[in-house]
Amino acid sequence: MTISFEGRDIISIKDLTRDDILTVLRIAKQLKEKPQPTLLKNHVLATLFFEPSTRTRLSFETAMKRLGGTVIGFADANVSSASKGETLYDSIRIIGNYADVIAMRHPLEGAARRAAEATIKPILNGGDGANQHPTQTLLDLFTIHETQHKLKNLHIALVGDLKYGRTVHSLAQSMVHFPCHLHLVAPESLAMPVHIVHDLKKNHISFSLHHTFENILPKLDILYMTRIQKERFSDLLEYEREKNTYVITAAMLTGVKKNLRILHPLPRVNEIHPSVDETPYAYYFEQAENGVFVRQALLALVLGKLS
Ligand code: CP
Repeated sequence: MTISFEGRDIISIKDLTRDDILTVLRIAKQLKEKPQPTLLKNHVLATLFFEPSTRTRLSFETAMKRLGGTVIGFADANVSSASKGETLYDSIRIIGNYADVIAMRHPLEGAARRAAEATIKPILNGGDGANQHPTQTLLDLFTIHETQHKLKNLHIALVGDLKYGRTVHSLAQSMVHFPCHLHLVAPESLAMPVHIVHDLKKNHISFSLHHTFENILPKLDILYMTRIQKERFSDLLEYEREKNTYVITAAMLTGVKKNLRILHPLPRVNEIHPSVDETPYAYYFEQAENGVFVRQALLALVLGKLS
């Protein structure tokens, strides 16, 4: 079945059907295997990053440039007229006249949805506060499939800051389409939000709650580590208490399944010890590289160049 993506916003992973997700993954694989250096010639991507980013912004920009398009935008809201008090709505309404597609990150939950109201150009949400990071989830799913050759019936542990971690929110919600057993590992104070747990229950996704992860390591196919996000804490003492709760080291990996792969949306702080990098289980650098292919697929799809 061919699905029309042309002109669509990608705001939340919940907006995508199973077929939508599989289409993105299929096109990403095609583009990874066979680059198309002129596909988006004469198209302009605006990258509007109101919050810091390395991977999301630069992989969107690389994706566009390697498809022959051009990029405008900013990596720091202080150099935009937002610093003079311009509303997000006005900024997007204007930039929608300069660009064919907009990738945006913003510290406020719901900002991407608000941006989509201001323009008919596709908005690709590169993260809105602690809410959603759907393009990260698509590259996570691409990477899970690349390493496990399936998306269903896996044991996946999501470890760390499940309260503020938008990547784990989106990834957990995507399991509605690809049922796996989720091991949710977090301290009490950083537990997965109730509305996402409710979604899992409503959709009969099997999950279990844990405060430690050492004992579940031998069961896992995917260990998805996350950073405790200092910038989201109002009480820095609480951050100091939790910041090193979960650290994986190479020594802890004896007895794990051969196919285990460790993922992380990055940046990491202390949660993956560098000794893990040289083990066959580390896959977070490849995961970040896959962001280019998945974002190429999204750009090509929403601009109506591939289907
Ligand atoms: N994974 C991710 O969102 O990384 P950046 O914050 O560097 O974009």
